Amino acid sequence: MEFLDLVKARRSATNFQEDVSITERELRDIFEVVKNHPSSFNLQTTHYYVATSAETKAAVKEVSLQQHKTLTAAATIIVCGDKQGYKEAPRLYEGMKLLGIIDEYEYDQTIQSIFKLYDHNPTMVEEDNFRNACLSAMLFMLAAKDKGWDTCPMHVHNVDRIKDIYHIPEHHQPILMIPIGKMTTHNVRPRGYRKPVGEFVHFVD
Ligand SMILES: Cc1cc2nc3c(=O)[nH]c(=O)nc-3n(C[C@H](O)[C@H](O)[C@H](O)COP(=O)(O)O)c2cc1C
Repeated sequence: MEFLDLVKARRSATNFQEDVSITERELRDIFEVVKNHPSSFNLQTTHYYVATSAETKAAVKEVSLQQHKTLTAAATIIVCGDKQGYKEAPRLYEGMKLLGIIDEYEYDQTIQSIFKLYDHNPTMVEEDNFRNACLSAMLFMLAAKDKGWDTCPMHVHNVDRIKDIYHIPEHHQPILMIPIGKMTTHNVRPRGYRKPVGEFVHFVD
């Protein structure tokens, strides 16, 4: 799909067709695109937890303000940020050093910069995890739409219950919930009001 058509075609699904399932292969194809999202220092701190069974999705609905789409979706996904993610920097940069893309000095400098920014600074870790996750999730929703799937970004309510249901470890912080499926086509509202560019863009010089 052309980029502008794709952007316009993505809508937040009000509800999903109940009889639609999604395979792990189809999800993996979407995540292959998501891999290309930007992240601070390319640390790729975003993790996705995917539930497809009716039992799990029913449990999710119970703790998600009874929003029915969490159950009717083919998969209901939790997007998380890894509080320990920056500690993977040496491993993530090792390959570039071995390939000669960066030298030993650049490698050491980068790792030092990363630890200086994040170590003992949980606020910065959390803020960047949110930035990284939102950029990743947006790409997930566009990639899904490009492959014929609909999504809806949502808050995560009852975070502790959600962590139990998905077996999410302590250091992974839920940031967004995204059900994915085929949206129902009746009762689709026109797209919500959008501010004109002049209301949200500030040309400063
Ligand atoms: C942080 C966040 C939370 C949202 N929570 C919900 C939600 O709980 N239920 C829902 O139906 N839509 C939810 N949405 C979707 C927005 O309502 C939707 O993106 C907005 O109305 C614009 O519509 P569009 O995505 O179709 O362009 C949420 C979006 C964001 C970014």
